[in-house]
Amino acid sequence: MDKVVLAFSGGLDTTVCIKLLEEKYNLDVITACVDVGQPKKEIDKAENVAEKIGVFKHYNIDAKEEFANDFISRGIKANAVYEGYPLSTSLARPLIAMKIIKIAEKEGAVAIAHGCTGKGNDQFRFESVIRSMSNFRIIAPIRELNLTRTEEQEYARSHGIPLSPDSKFSIDENIWGRSIEGDVIEDPKNEVPKEAYLWVKSDKEANNEPEKISIDFEAGIPIAINDEKMSLIDLIAKANEIAGNNGIGKIDIIEDRMVGLKSREVYEVPGATLIIKAHKGLEGLVFTKDELRFIDYVSPLYADLVYNASWSEPLREDLDKSIDYMQRRLTGKIVLSLYKGHISILTRESKFSLHDIKQISFEDKENDQREIEGMIKHHGIQAAIYQKQKH
Ligand code: ARG
Repeated sequence: MDKVVLAFSGGLDTTVCIKLLEEKYNLDVITACVDVGQPKKEIDKAENVAEKIGVFKHYNIDAKEEFANDFISRGIKANAVYEGYPLSTSLARPLIAMKIIKIAEKEGAVAIAHGCTGKGNDQFRFESVIRSMSNFRIIAPIRELNLTRTEEQEYARSHGIPLSPDSKFSIDENIWGRSIEGDVIEDPKNEVPKEAYLWVKSDKEANNEPEKISIDFEAGIPIAINDEKMSLIDLIAKANEIAGNNGIGKIDIIEDRMVGLKSREVYEVPGATLIIKAHKGLEGLVFTKDELRFIDYVSPLYADLVYNASWSEPLREDLDKSIDYMQRRLTGKIVLSLYKGHISILTRESKFSLHDIKQISFEDKENDQREIEGMIKHHGIQAAIYQKQKH
């Protein structure tokens, strides 16, 4: 039989897909779980489910380092945030697609399958990368059969698919954040139930004393927390823990999806919130006014490209090159205070700082204040002429 490689998480959608691909598409299913930092028990669950159902073959691919170094790092350098969401799910999708293509090539599969519904953004993100990097046929069983979540559950039950009594929410978790959708959260009239949050403490439970923390950056990337050097992946984990304990990083937004639908989306992104705040804080010290305007312009553009499934776009590559070039100067240290959901910047320093303490000081006598008079006379010349013409 022909083989298909299914991007597999062990959740309801992709588990149902295994049986659908066998039954309705007559294919042997190879499941591939790409580890971008979802909880260990989720990875294990995927393996167990694949084994229980008896798939042709199961792969578990550790892509955490690549995710941090080649994807999250770009999100950090670009301050990539879409409508308040630091793109944790969005950034992982192209990498997952790339890994699945590799397996499909190795296995001589005829197709690649994913479990996305026809309502979300992830179908675009997977398929745009698969189409731009391969010629595999793409199968999206849930979308193609127009299945609802309830229909999926019924199909699972009638086909002996083990359904774990896991969260009623649809969760997508990786090292950069946790996306929470579905159930009562779908309706913006409902408050988010407390149990939806796992990473970020409520203000009440958060630390009762402000916590001081320093972050060192090198060429746009955080390299140390509290003077302890660590890999980006460990640093993000640490940032998640510290910021989460201080109630930082709960995002509850009305998000505009690619398909035009508005959707209530909830995220826990403590580390991302802290790191991007620190990154931006240091940028103010290092870049010129014009460079900062450019960053303000490029940041949402970059975030749109990531959100809107345009990882393969030449503009994304062009921007990465220019951002990398600028960010080579973003080296320095920032100290912040975290307290019950708030972050305040305490100090910033950088060897590339454009701040001149001598010149800005009120005590400076070397730069004669009177020299500015000529500039002042010229400032607003055109406006002055215009105002006088009015009379
Ligand atoms: N709305 C987000 C995005 O498009 C997250 C989707 C997460 N999926 C989930 N099953 N919770 O990037």
